[in-house]
Amino acid sequence: MKAPLLLVGAGGHGRAVLETLRDAGWPEPAGVLDDNPASMGLPGIRLLGKLAMAEALRGQGLALAHVALGDNARRRALGEWLLSLGYALPEIRHPSAIIAGTAQLSAGVVAMPRVVVGAAARVGSHTILNTGCIVEHDCALGHAVHIAPAATLGGGVRVGDGALIGLGVSVKPGVSIGAEAIVGVGAAVVADVAPGLRVAGVPAMPLG
Ligand SMILES: CC(C)(COP(=O)(O)OP(=O)(O)OC[C@H]1O[C@@H](n2cnc3c(N)ncnc32)[C@H](O)[C@@H]1OP(=O)(O)O)[C@@H](O)C(=O)NCCC(=O)NCCS
Repeated sequence: MKAPLLLVGAGGHGRAVLETLRDAGWPEPAGVLDDNPASMGLPGIRLLGKLAMAEALRGQGLALAHVALGDNARRRALGEWLLSLGYALPEIRHPSAIIAGTAQLSAGVVAMPRVVVGAAARVGSHTILNTGCIVEHDCALGHAVHIAPAATLGGGVRVGDGALIGLGVSVKPGVSIGAEAIVGVGAAVVADVAPGLRVAGVPAMPLG
């Protein structure tokens, strides 16, 4: 039996993660922390307070946590902080996700509904595999990456830490996308993308 976990982030992504936890048969989360008073809140889940409370809650015996924030840098920083406090960040998989037996998912990864991860793919910590994305065989994703809904990465694609691959993007097999790059909605990436670059279009070209 899994133990209830502490969620961080009571916004839109938090609500989506909550549904995934429920569908996957996790017990109800022990509560949620959020610094933003304007956050929507999570239905049926108690807002315990601000993020700083995570330390005291660890002292009270909470052992599992998940950072459900869309911002890649913030999700990574908070995830690493929670690990340093002694929390474990379990992998969360929707039951409809298909993850190859030879794929490796790291701490704090969430695989939302209908995600497919192929053979020998590697997914770094705190990465979001969002609804219906496909990460083909031998892909290597860094830490705190976000693969948005319906994006498809061909075999052997590499994605650096903190990169955002937007909604419905297609990436040609073998292409490398640098750390913190952003690939705009609907792009077709057919050549390597340098770190920090924003690209969009078919074929994807630098923006601005
Ligand atoms: C690429 C992106 C980051 C640019 O955002 P931005 O800096 O706010 O850019 P703007 O919306 O001001 O647009 C700047 C220009 O780029 C164009 N543009 C923006 N996104 C584009 C896209 N995906 N494809 C083609 N052109 C795009 C705009 O039309 C505009 O062109 P113009 O200067 O000729 O009018 C953003 O549009 C995007 O696609 N983000 C990904 C969102 C996403 O998938 N999130 C995951 C949700 S789960």
